[in-house]
Amino acid sequence: MIKNLKESLFSSKKKGIHQAWLTAYDYPSARLLDETGIDLILVGDSLGMVVLGQKDTVEVTLGEMIHHLKAVRRGVSRAPVAVDLPSHTYDTPDQALESARMLVEAGADAVKLEGPLPEIVNHLASSEIEVIGHLGMLPQHVREEGGYHRKGKTDSEAMALMEAALSLQAAGCCALVLELVEATLSEQISKNLDIPTIGIGSGTVCDGQILVTTDLLGLQPWFRPSFVKPKADLATPFRAAVEAFIKETRTP
Ligand code: KIV
Repeated sequence: MIKNLKESLFSSKKKGIHQAWLTAYDYPSARLLDETGIDLILVGDSLGMVVLGQKDTVEVTLGEMIHHLKAVRRGVSRAPVAVDLPSHTYDTPDQALESARMLVEAGADAVKLEGPLPEIVNHLASSEIEVIGHLGMLPQHVREEGGYHRKGKTDSEAMALMEAALSLQAAGCCALVLELVEATLSEQISKNLDIPTIGIGSGTVCDGQILVTTDLLGLQPWFRPSFVKPKADLATPFRAAVEAFIKETRTP
């Protein structure tokens, strides 16, 4: 378990060191990521979409997150491991604390939650649980929102996001993920916070970046968010290896 995650994130930001974070959901990918020197591994509730084949993250359960978190934990000895509190597992401060404690017991160094919820963050942080906030597009609310839309385009939306970011920092968050936030606003938020902002589809001006690893590796060619520039096309060698095996087996 990582001690003082907040302090080390805070001091990285002060030194101008940018954080590179990625997601993992299983032992082998977590172990490979850890060995590369990645700064943090997130067991994201993107699990629902990229591992379980669901249409969004809304139905992912705490039990599923714990199951995958345990696998990731077994593969990681160096990087901090954070995990998403799934939808409706943090509707009240007490429910949030109970859910977060289960995740910490299963091996999480920090939990992440979506939305401007300073009261919940404060309840967890004062129980010594490290909390990462998440503002901008909130995937757990995609059904009410009717899609994945960019945030912070209007003055009132930008002001609300800035206030929410400051309130999450004051409540005790150790970092803040900004998803699909206008780049100029991401830059202003990053300048106004002492904790690092970690962008996803929010420009290059944040204090770090996070991606879903399957998007980075080109493992799911049927779905690619517009802001992702994959660094590999692993679907092609995957298919080629399987086709070679099939051929070899059928024509020995
Ligand atoms: O669930 C997830 O993977 C996330 C992203 C920020 C990458 O929350």
